Amino acid sequence: MKNYTLKVQEVRKETNDTVTICFKQPGLKKIKYLSGQYLTLQFRINGRRYIRPYSFSSTPGIDSTLDVTVKRVPGGIVSNYINDVVKVEDVIEVQEPLGDFVFELDESLNSVVFWGVGSGITPLFSMIKDLLLNHSLINVYLVYGNRSNSSVIFKDQLEKLKINYSKRFKIYNFYSKEEFFNEDSHNYRGRIDSGFVKSLISNIEYPSRHYICGPIGLKNTVKESLINLGENINNVFSEDFELIKNPEDFKEIKDQEIYLNFAGIESKISIKSGNSVLEEALEVGLELPYSCQTGNCSTCKGTLKSGQLKMIGLDKPRNDLKDNEFLLCCSYPLTNNVCIEI
Ligand SMILES: Cc1cc2nc3c(=O)[nH]c(=O)nc-3n(C[C@H](O)[C@H](O)[C@H](O)COP(=O)(O)OP(=O)(O)OC[C@H]3O[C@@H](n4cnc5c(N)ncnc54)[C@H](O)[C@@H]3O)c2cc1C
Ligand code: FES
Repeated sequence: MKNYTLKVQEVRKETNDTVTICFKQPGLKKIKYLSGQYLTLQFRINGRRYIRPYSFSSTPGIDSTLDVTVKRVPGGIVSNYINDVVKVEDVIEVQEPLGDFVFELDESLNSVVFWGVGSGITPLFSMIKDLLLNHSLINVYLVYGNRSNSSVIFKDQLEKLKINYSKRFKIYNFYSKEEFFNEDSHNYRGRIDSGFVKSLISNIEYPSRHYICGPIGLKNTVKESLINLGENINNVFSEDFELIKNPEDFKEIKDQEIYLNFAGIESKISIKSGNSVLEEALEVGLELPYSCQTGNCSTCKGTLKSGQLKMIGLDKPRNDLKDNEFLLCCSYPLTNNVCIEI
């Protein structure tokens, strides 16, 4: 895994609780990325190292800076630190871009629909710019849910794109808490629901593809509705910003003590039921490598030497892992003789 240090060129306030951090590209070796991928930022806050992934809101070949857009999470350590503390000229350590939530060109494609809620707009915004500016035959639809008009991230930039690409780009806004807005054919009250999915997809041009980024509720609604309407699952892509934990999967998980051999040093760690091996290792000060914390990259991969581990919350099957390889951000011990090497 390559690491870089990047200088902050601009900090742009997007809404009351969201900023965009624009990093200067390194002078010599430019960082390459694809729209939809993410950049992993590393911070040391009160002596502890924190690592968080943020999707690029910039678009390669279109924006000169590397931009990430960060919305505050209530009580969140890094998102609030970025909103409150990070400033122009700061130098921040980042990991090389990762992620497979990207647009792969298919010449036969006639339309792409983006489904986003809140900060889930960031990877979609990067892809939308790419499609509008670089793929002139594809129609683009954005269905975008927010609490209110004032919490819409990239509102002005999206409006400009809508005007400049009026024939190919349509935006449908949903507001869950806004009382005053111009109710028209493209502004809706409430949340994105199956009825809307149905009405939209009966009006788009086929073949089409769908990209979803937002809370689990959005993903489930859109995916299920599309599949019920006969859409091929292979045309539906999604990105999660959080590990999805189903309480049912934790029934057999109990407090355990495990051994972790990291960089040749063995540590005994108590794992409280419900916490992952990675979470507890970080809690006791071990600086294990990690990035997404959602089981999507492989940065936190460890090898199981004895005992049993269970991975919970993986969104996609990980056929690339050997039988004794586990992603520690979503691994939970089933027995008390677990020994892991990383
Ligand atoms: C691939 C990927 C791309 C991402 N891209 C973006 C992005 O472009 N913009 C952006 O703002 N965030 C993005 N995130 C989320 C981001 O990485 C952090 O998880 C988020 O900023 C919270 O970090 P924190 O340190 O502030 O919160 P923490 O201190 O880690 O968590 C505090 C509490 O908030 C909850 N929480 C954690 N993450 C979220 C979340 N996303 N939404 C709601 N509650 C949460 C936790 O369960 C915990 O209870 C992305 C995540 C992933 C995996
Ligand atoms: S940190 Fe990405 S898979 Fe665990």
